[in-house]
Amino acid sequence: MGSIRSVADVGIEALAVHVPRHYLDVGTLARANGVDPGKYCFGLGCRRMAVVAPDEDPVVLAVRAASGLFERYDIDPACVGMVVVGTESGVDAAKPIATYVHRMAGLPRDCRTFDIQHACYGGTAGLRMATGWVLGGLRPGKKALVIATDVARYEIGSPGEPTQGAAAVAMLVGDEPRVLRLEPYPEAVHTEEVMDFWRPTYRATALADGHHSIECYLRALEGCWGGFTSSSGLGLGAFDYLLYHSPFPKMAFKAHKRLYELATNGAAGFDPDYERRVLPTLWSNAEVGNAYSASLYVSLAGLLEHAEVDAAGKRVGLFSYGSGCCAEFIAARVGDDAAAWRGRTGLRQVLAARREITHESYLRFRQGHEELARDGSFRTPLAPDGVAFCGTWNHQRVYRDATWPAAVASARPGDTCPPSDVLRPAPRPARAQAGD
Ligand code: HMG
Repeated sequence: MGSIRSVADVGIEALAVHVPRHYLDVGTLARANGVDPGKYCFGLGCRRMAVVAPDEDPVVLAVRAASGLFERYDIDPACVGMVVVGTESGVDAAKPIATYVHRMAGLPRDCRTFDIQHACYGGTAGLRMATGWVLGGLRPGKKALVIATDVARYEIGSPGEPTQGAAAVAMLVGDEPRVLRLEPYPEAVHTEEVMDFWRPTYRATALADGHHSIECYLRALEGCWGGFTSSSGLGLGAFDYLLYHSPFPKMAFKAHKRLYELATNGAAGFDPDYERRVLPTLWSNAEVGNAYSASLYVSLAGLLEHAEVDAAGKRVGLFSYGSGCCAEFIAARVGDDAAAWRGRTGLRQVLAARREITHESYLRFRQGHEELARDGSFRTPLAPDGVAFCGTWNHQRVYRDATWPAAVASARPGDTCPPSDVLRPAPRPARAQAGD
């Protein structure tokens, strides 16, 4: 490890993805909703929606992404000095997801943990926070673990429903940025208070003013791009690939069209340009759906794992948008030795392991989630092994993990009552007596 000079010495050392183990084909959803499948598939560019089973939640996705990262890149979790979770699917108004990740991923005690929320911008805010922390140099040799994790949920039958998805992306940030090196241009950010997409704390599903949100997104893109191009002197042609936050793949098409028109004064040649520089980044989003804060990094993993793209050494532009709204444009370089770590994001493995579900199962899974969020509701997980969500007991979320008591082994999957000796409240420490 040498001395760190600038943001160019810092970036993503390792990146891993986890997605739920089921998906719903959007054609199936369209038929159930009485909508022409062409609207969801071609109009929005969606293909499949990742659907969480009742034993999966943003915590489970985050822990599995982090564990996959440590295993596949052979990283010792002891190197982590900070965990930042970017999410808008918080499971508690006070206790951060980062604390669950910290315990279940086996991280060291001398570690800072917190969540960041700004709609889909949370993952990027975490990444920027982490690079600043590494640059600050107060924990020499330590790395930051940034995880973007979200489960997108809209009302059944609403315009947003076909765009739903879920995923977690774990990124190790440090001073050996083999996967993605951030370039040292001045920050290009845009903030504006807008009501385009929101989720009041009393609701499980998001609300959106859909067409307005598209306009807000495009305005923020123009704001960021104007700032970036004037401070860096780089034009659109300087980028090999452009990754746009993808709430649905057609949004990235609209975004690139806007920038292309601005940059070229409406010159011909948009379609081949889009196919060459944007389309290779979108296949994984079409598989997963909107994973909110994780979406941009699902695109990045898709580019890194694209069968016909050698991204090594290429310059990429990343546009992150979070409703409400805050947005940022970042220039970065993919590491030169991509051949050494390609395949380790786990993206292709987790997608290949998924099972398709029927529309009825999708509705049952949603109902299962609502039930497990109520206090006193518990079910042994259906997932055969690994970290899983079991329900809420004594107002606490209960997860199966490596410390799961052996007594549970005798419970059958799907049992609805808690094995008696699992969920007994932890004994309170004896109070110190005066004079002790
Ligand atoms: P809608 O209003 O029902 O759809 O929902 P539409 O009528 O606008 O149709 C969509 C497209 O399908 C149109 O194409 C139609 O022409 C086409 P476009 O004009 O856009 O090119 N179409 C068809 N194509 C082929 N065959 C057919 C057919 N019928 C129609 N038969 C909307 C669309 C995006 C509004 C909805 O999905 C929604 O509300 N989504 C949620 C909000 C959202 O995703 N906003 C995006 C920007 S904000 C953002 O990205 C932030 C976010 O990720 C949250 C966060 O930050 O946390 C959402």
